[in-house]
Amino acid sequence: MESSVGRVRSPEAAVKLLENRYKLVVDKRVVTLVYAAFLNGRPVLFEGPPGTGKTEIGEALLELWAGRKPFILPCSEGYDEYKVIGDFHPQMAMKHGFNEESFVPRPLLAALILDTGVLVDEIRRSSEEFQNMLLDIIDKRRIVVPEIRRVFKARGTGFQLIMTSNPEDIAQNELSDAFLRRVVRVRFDYPPRHVEERIVRLRTEEKPLLGAEVMEVIMRVVSRLRTSNISHKPGTSESVAWARMAQSIAALKGRDRVSLEDLAEAAEAVLVKRVDDEDVVREVLGEALNV
Ligand SMILES: Nc1ncnc2c1ncn2[C@@H]1O[C@H](COP(=O)(O)OP(=O)(O)O)[C@@H](O)[C@H]1O
Ligand SMILES: [Mg+2]
Repeated sequence: MESSVGRVRSPEAAVKLLENRYKLVVDKRVVTLVYAAFLNGRPVLFEGPPGTGKTEIGEALLELWAGRKPFILPCSEGYDEYKVIGDFHPQMAMKHGFNEESFVPRPLLAALILDTGVLVDEIRRSSEEFQNMLLDIIDKRRIVVPEIRRVFKARGTGFQLIMTSNPEDIAQNELSDAFLRRVVRVRFDYPPRHVEERIVRLRTEEKPLLGAEVMEVIMRVVSRLRTSNISHKPGTSESVAWARMAQSIAALKGRDRVSLEDLAEAAEAVLVKRVDDEDVVREVLGEALNV
């Protein structure tokens, strides 16, 4: 595991690195809040709509804080302690017996041992027992493994949790009151237009270049779609994906500037996620592109 980055514990320095190294635009208040939570040993919950940078920003902040890559746990209903804490390796156990030598640490235990962070992605997809287990571990900063009669204790301050969740996704579990009481909640939303433009610029720095007119259309379309009644509203991730697709289309045509035509060519492929949304997306596009 690389530990090349070094810990960054000043919010100002972190904001600069987030932009330069990770191409992420993050408000200093968010970084300060997250760092304050870590100093208090409290887990952080990033809540907001899809495509607002929760996962990438969480991963980057954990890496900056610990100076090491975090572990990522994409949640699912079927998660249990064997999958996240550890389990015996069958062949090793046959050979050496059920002891520490044949015990394989999984992400949560590995993170505690290595003193690095864990990003728990889409926490609402996990069970309440799993959520309580996480909180208990981060509270006590130790993991008990009865199978090998050992207690692992966190050595430093690098072991921290950031969880992400999308509260608008009705298919997912509710988070319990006990859970919400213990986490520090950071709300994510679509950024103000000038910030979103900066993000798209930052992520489309190489050629073919995006002119002001193309940027204007992207911003107008995504903002209209966010207030429409389509089921999959575009996040910042879609603005970026749309711009980059148009860039690639322009490049494939051998041009060094992105035209509105390139933008139109990429539009539906990026913005329509469900057939039911097609008509509304087409209408908004038609208005913005005058086609
Ligand atoms: N603040 C931001 N700075 C830079 N890129 C962003 C930002 N917010 C969203 N993005 C774009 O969205 C993508 C990341 O979205 P992601 O972390 O998966 O969002 P979420 O987890 O909220 O669904 C990035 O690759 C980038 O294109
Ligand atoms: Mg995510």
